[in-house]
Amino acid sequence: MRVLVHRVGTATRGNPDTARGPPSRGNAGGHDRLFEHARAPTPWVASVRVDFIAVSFRSSFETLDVSSWPLVLREPAGREPKDWLEQPKIGQRWLFKPIHQNQAGLWQGEDWAEKVASELASLMGVTHARVEFARRGDQVGCISRDVTSPNWELHAGAVALTAVHPDFRVKNRERTGHSLGNIHKVLFRIGCPSDALVPASFSAYDLFCGYLVFDAWIANRDRHEENWAVLRPPPGSLDRDCLSPSFDHASSLGFQLQDHARSEMLSRDGVAAWAERGTAWRFEHPAGGPPPTLVQHARNAFTTAADGVASYWMAKVESVRDTDVDDVLRRATRMSEPARRFAMELLRVNRRRLLT
Ligand SMILES: Nc1ncnc2c1ncn2[C@@H]1O[C@H](COP(=O)(O)OP(=O)(O)OP(=O)(O)O)[C@@H](O)[C@H]1O
Ligand SMILES: [Mg+2]
Repeated sequence: MRVLVHRVGTATRGNPDTARGPPSRGNAGGHDRLFEHARAPTPWVASVRVDFIAVSFRSSFETLDVSSWPLVLREPAGREPKDWLEQPKIGQRWLFKPIHQNQAGLWQGEDWAEKVASELASLMGVTHARVEFARRGDQVGCISRDVTSPNWELHAGAVALTAVHPDFRVKNRERTGHSLGNIHKVLFRIGCPSDALVPASFSAYDLFCGYLVFDAWIANRDRHEENWAVLRPPPGSLDRDCLSPSFDHASSLGFQLQDHARSEMLSRDGVAAWAERGTAWRFEHPAGGPPPTLVQHARNAFTTAADGVASYWMAKVESVRDTDVDDVLRRATRMSEPARRFAMELLRVNRRRLLT
C-alpha cells in the first residue's frame, strides 16, 4: 500500500500571500453568472426572453476535449494511476479521471457524480476542487482542477496523520487509526484554505466537519485517508498549513447503481432504506458491528468541533433549495433520467435525515 503522498504544485501562478492559507484553486461558491448583467427594461416580455436565453445557454454542462493537453505528471495515488494534464496557454493542471466499467461491463457514473457533487458543494458552501466533464481520445470522464498552489505540497491525510502517529497505516477492516480523534489532533490547530467561505474562527477541523456533512448529504462513502489532505506552504513562507479543499467525490449519488435498480427503488419508496445503508466504513469503527451511518458519523464529528459549528453546517444544508439542486442535475446531461430522479430523491432523504 502506498502511504506517503507528497506532491509539489508547480503551476505557473503567483505565490500565495494570504495570512490564512494558499490562494486555493478550490471553488466554494463558483456558479457561472453568465446573465447577471441582463436587464429587463419592460419587465414582462423581456424577463421571459432573458429566462429563455438563460435556460438555453445553461441547459447542459460543457464537456471539454482535453485530448491535446500535454501530460505533465502521473498521479500514483488512488485506485489506479491517472494523468495530470496542463491546460494550454493557461498552464493550469487538471487531473483526468476516466469512467470505469463494472464487473458486468456496464459503464459507471463517476464522471457525473464528481461533476454534480462539485456543484452541490458550491451550493452548500463547501470549498472543493473545480470539476468539468472531459473527453480524452476515446475516453470519457472528468477533470479535477489542482487544488495545490505553486510550490505548496499536498500531504494526503495518511501522511498528515503520521505527525500524531509516526507509524500510521490503515492495516485492517476496522480502519484503526483513521479516527475522528486523530483527525482532530491534526486539524484543530491548522487553518482553512483562503477560499473557504467559513467564519474566520473556524479551524481546519471545523471545516472538515462540513466535508463530513456534505458526504452524508451526497452519500459519499469514500472519504478514506487519501481522500482528504493538508496543504503545506513552501519553507520560509509566512503561511501555515491548511486543510485542502475537498476532492474526489466520484463515489457518491449512487453512481454505481444500474438504472433498473434505481427505478425499482423509486417505485417502492426504497431510497430511504438504501440511504440508511450508507456507512462511514472508511473511518475507524468497532470490530464486529456495523460502522455508523454517514449521518451519525457527521454528528459524532461535531462533538469535538468548536461551538456553533454544528448549527453552522446544518443551516448550510437547510439553505440549499430543491430548485437549485434540480437545476444542477438537469444540466448534467450525462445522467440518465432514473439516475437523476434517484439522486434528487437521495439528496432530499439525506437532507431530512441530517436535519432531524
Ligand atoms: N483536484 C485535485 N487537486 C490536487 N490533488 C488531487 C486532486 N484530485 C485528486 N488529487 C490527488 O490524486 C489522488 C488520486 O485522485 P482521486 O482520489 O480523485 O482518484 P481515485 O482513483 O478516485 O481515488 P480512490 O482510490 O480514492 O478511489 C488523490 O488521492 C489526491 O492525492
Ligand atoms: Mg481518491
